Order: sequence, then C-alpha cells, then structure tokens
Amino acid sequence: MLPLLLLTACWMWKSPDELREQEVRMDMEDHYAQVSAARDAIIAGDAATAVDNLETLRARLPVPQLPEDLARAEKSLGKALAPARSGADLTATAAVVADASAACGDCHQAAGVQMLQDPAPPPATAMLRHQWAAERLWEGLVAPSEDALRAGWEALVETPMLPAELGEAASSPEVVALEARVHQLAGRVAAHGTPRAARAEAYGELMATCAACHAATGGGPAQP
Ligand code: HEC
Ligand code: HEC
Repeated sequence: MLPLLLLTACWMWKSPDELREQEVRMDMEDHYAQVSAARDAIIAGDAATAVDNLETLRARLPVPQLPEDLARAEKSLGKALAPARSGADLTATAAVVADASAACGDCHQAAGVQMLQDPAPPPATAMLRHQWAAERLWEGLVAPSEDALRAGWEALVETPMLPAELGEAASSPEVVALEARVHQLAGRVAAHGTPRAARAEAYGELMATCAACHAATGGGPAQP
C-alpha cells in the first residue's frame, strides 16, 4: 500500500521549479500575444491599440518568484514598456514596441531559452510576404535569432512592391522612397554585428515606415 501512496503523492507533487516553469510559460504566451498584437497594430497605423497592448503587458509584470538574473531582465522589459502613452504618435509607439521586443530577447539570452519553432514558409502575395518578413525580423529580436533576422531580411528584399499591386500610387516619389526606406531599415536590423540598440531602433522605424506607406496609398492590413 505504501509504495502506491508514495507514487500518487509524487505524481501530484510538483517541485517549485516545475511550478515556476509553468507560470513562466503561461506568462510567455501572454507576452507574445500582447507584443505581436502591438506590432501588427503599428503596421496597420493604429497607435492607440498598440498602446493598449503594451499597457496590458506592463500591468501584468512582474512574474513572481523569478530567479535574480531573470528578475533583472524583466525589470528592463518594464522600463522599455514604460514610455507607452495613450495619445503618443505612431513613431514613438513603434519605438516602444521595438525596444520591448529587444528586451524580451535579452532575457531569453540570459535564460538560455530557445523559443523559436520553424515558421510557415512565406506566402505568395507581396504584401503578405512583407508581413511575414516583419514577423521574422521581430522574432529575430525577441528570440534572439540571427537566422530569423536573415530570413526576414531576405524575404523583404526579394519581394519588390509591384506597380500592379500599388496601382497609380506606385509611381509617386513618396511611395518609391518609402519602399527604399523599408529595405534599408530591414538591412540595418538584420546586418550581422549591428548593436542591439541600433537594431531595435531600426525595427521601430521599419514598422512606422510600413504604416506610412499604408497611409500614403490607402492600403495596408484591415484595422483590428
Ligand atoms: C524575465 C525573463 C523573460 C522575459 C522578460 C521574457 N521572457 Fe519569454 N521566456 C522566458 C523563459 C525563461 C522562457 C522558457 C520558459 C518555458 O520553457 O516555458 C521563455 C519562453 C518564451 C516563449 C516560448 C513559449 C513557451 O511556452 O515555451 C515565447 C513565445 C516567449 N518567451 C515570448 C516572450 C516575449 C514576446 C517577451 C517580451 C514581451 C518575453 N518572452 C519576455 C523568459 C523571459
Ligand atoms: C510602398 C508602400 C508600402 C510599403 C512600404 C508597405 N506596404 Fe503593405 N501595403 C501597401 C498597399 C498599397 C497595400 C494594399 C494592397 C495590397 O494588399 O497589395 C498593402 C497591404 C498590406 C497588408 C495587407 C495584405 C492583405 O492581403 O491583407 C499587409 C499585411 C501589409 N501591407 C504589410 C506590410 C508590412 C509589414 C510592411 C513593412 C515591412 C509593408 N506592408 C510595407 C503598401 C505598402
């Protein structure tokens, strides 16, 4: 009888480490959901929704019982999120999203976490490829992962914005310049050896530039 009781007890009992891991995992899904939603809102030109997502995440920090080094990394995430302000413009909010994403990456690096699964292959249409590329670049910051950064950059430069898809707007100098700027910024995010702060800054500008072209052309993702 005793062995059976012991076995049952072991099955029900979880070590503090296991519990902590479970808690961290639950929280990570939420972290991921909030920051990726903020990223997509910026690309769609919706700074207010992005601020809501960032504030929601900030209100959920800190995760209790983190080991000291991770608690420190989490504090810098809190600091990165702090400048999110309702009423702030798109560029400023994009910079907060990018900075927070890089702060996610700092903790994953400190914790030695491998968080990436292989992404679905890039979709066929140009704009969905841009979205896919922006997601890979983001993951490159969050994971952090040089491979994801390179995949994002390659998908962006290999996918020109075809005049057919942009209609008349494609020939306007403003739109041509915005497209060139997207490629330039993506290159800066992905280039090997770019310092982490410069990467985050370029990624923030990249998201704001996607949004600027959507505003200029009347295109872009449907608002959430
Ligand atoms: C304080 C440290 C810390 C911060 C900050 C942090 N993470 Fe994590 N993250 C972890 C740890 C530890 C794991 C591994 C936990 C596990 O295995 O479930 C992890 C795993 C993940 C995973 C894999 C999920 C899973 O269930 O395995 C994702 C996705 C993720 N983090 C996203 C994020 C995003 C997005 C942010 C920034 C908003 C972020 N994390 C910030 C520590 C952190
Ligand atoms: C040169 C202008 C321009 C730039 C730069 C630009 N877009 Fe777009 N985008 C458009 C236009 C126009 C549309 C609507 C037409 C279309 O869907 O092809 C669009 C549509 C989209 C859509 C909706 C596609 C769909 O089928 O629902 C997404 C998502 C998108 N863009 C993401 C991005 C991302 C991410 C970036 C930045 C990396 C970006 N775009 C940069 C002009 C641009």
